[in-house]
Amino acid sequence: MWKWKLTKGASAWSHLSLLPLLLALLVSSLPAACRDAHPLTRSPQVTNSTVVVVGRHVRSYNHLQGDVRRRKLFSFQKFFLRIDKNGKVNGTKSRDDPFSVLEIKSVDVGIVAIRGLSSNYYLAISKNGELYGARDFGIDCMLKERIEENGYNTYASAEWRNGKKQMFVGLNAKGKSLRGKKTRRKNTATHFLPIMV
Ligand SMILES: *[C@@H]1O[C@H](CO)[C@@H](O)[C@H](O)[C@H]1NC(C)=O
Ligand SMILES: *[C@@H]1O[C@H](CO)[C@@H](O)[C@H](O)[C@H]1NC(C)=O
Repeated sequence: MWKWKLTKGASAWSHLSLLPLLLALLVSSLPAACRDAHPLTRSPQVTNSTVVVVGRHVRSYNHLQGDVRRRKLFSFQKFFLRIDKNGKVNGTKSRDDPFSVLEIKSVDVGIVAIRGLSSNYYLAISKNGELYGARDFGIDCMLKERIEENGYNTYASAEWRNGKKQMFVGLNAKGKSLRGKKTRRKNTATHFLPIMV
């Protein structure tokens, strides 16, 4: 047993002399390999330790990786989503409604928590699709953030579905909150732009 280990060790040492050569070969072949395998990661930018992928998904990646973002969610129908001090969720046309200032935080890959800064309630979708403000963070508050083809974001419950259909945060054309069961990804009532504040 002992002897076998020794022999093995010795043979490993003898291979070490080849190591520099192997490394050189590996390094020289790397750029080409990367380019072929990951066309979108061709020119990564490093900001602190986070690699921001440059290419088609740059915006998506930024959204998902941002730590805490202070934003307003501006709907396709031009309402600012607000969560008031009673935990009610609806929209406002006012540009200076303090209840429309939100904090969007990444809690997992592609999953965010959205908290009303003035009300301290989390944007939540209940099991039966009700859009409401939750006092405490819980599974109802886990929202799957995705960028749609028109550049707007959708926020779907990461936990609950209506059968096989996802349930989204939505405001109707009058600025009232929509039940998740009535929402669809393709409907602009579920489309929001995060706006810096
Ligand atoms: C890098 O990290 C520091 C400290 O965490 C932070 O203050 C700074 O804004 C970060 N810079 C970038 C480019 O993200
Ligand atoms: C949103 O709710 C508040 C508080 O109940 C109400 O005053 C306001 O009119 C509502 N906005 C809309 C667009 O329905």
